[in-house]
Amino acid sequence: MQKYKPDYYNDLDKVYSKIWNLLNSGLLNRDAPFHIPVFICGDKNKSDGRIVVLRGVDKKGKIIWFHSDIRSNKVKILKHNPEVSLLFYDKSEKIQLRISGHAKINYQNDVTKKSWKKTAHMSRQCYLGDIAPGFDVSEPTSGLTANVDNLKYTIEESEIGYKNFCVIETFIKSIEWLYLAAKGHRRAYFSLKNNSLEKKWLIP
Ligand SMILES: Cc1cc2nc3c(=O)[nH]c(=O)nc-3n(C[C@H](O)[C@H](O)[C@H](O)COP(=O)(O)O)c2cc1C
Repeated sequence: MQKYKPDYYNDLDKVYSKIWNLLNSGLLNRDAPFHIPVFICGDKNKSDGRIVVLRGVDKKGKIIWFHSDIRSNKVKILKHNPEVSLLFYDKSEKIQLRISGHAKINYQNDVTKKSWKKTAHMSRQCYLGDIAPGFDVSEPTSGLTANVDNLKYTIEESEIGYKNFCVIETFIKSIEWLYLAAKGHRRAYFSLKNNSLEKKWLIP
């Protein structure tokens, strides 16, 4: 564990800035640990997490988002319970973030149009299968045709994947921060509800 104290060690405002810096670097840098958080949702009987790719960060709007398949199980769950969490951990920074919020499924609207346009040829492959993700099959398969598996499709041909594409936004309600340090851990809580920011320290 590092022995020095970073500038945010005893400063809630700097912790808050650091959170958004880490989220932004997770967005821009595919090798950053914050690039692939765990997205957690569930119903009253069961909750489940899965890795997703961070695709958008809006500090002002307090929104983060990722792309998904509209046919996926998580979408069915979110329709019943849109209260969700995202879990991030950066080992070298020794920082864990637990973000909670309200999810919105965007489908065939301005948000998805904008994101789909920016979705690269290769990434569109995920949306080009005829069978829904999670569907039972009798043999091991990617669910894609050989041409799609081998990326042998044009960008025009990939447009058909838009019908399966959605953008899941999380409107952040709270962020819990944990920083592990040899000099003493630090834990903080930010409530982002009702257009105000409340911040407080917690016992780690
Ligand atoms: C590195 C990595 C990145 C992933 N990115 C996404 C993603 O951005 N969106 C997504 O829906 N699933 C993504 N997945 C797949 C999910 O983890 C999950 O298996 C899939 O979405 C089905 O989940 P569900 O059945 O809960 O809907 C990714 C998996 C890995 C390992």
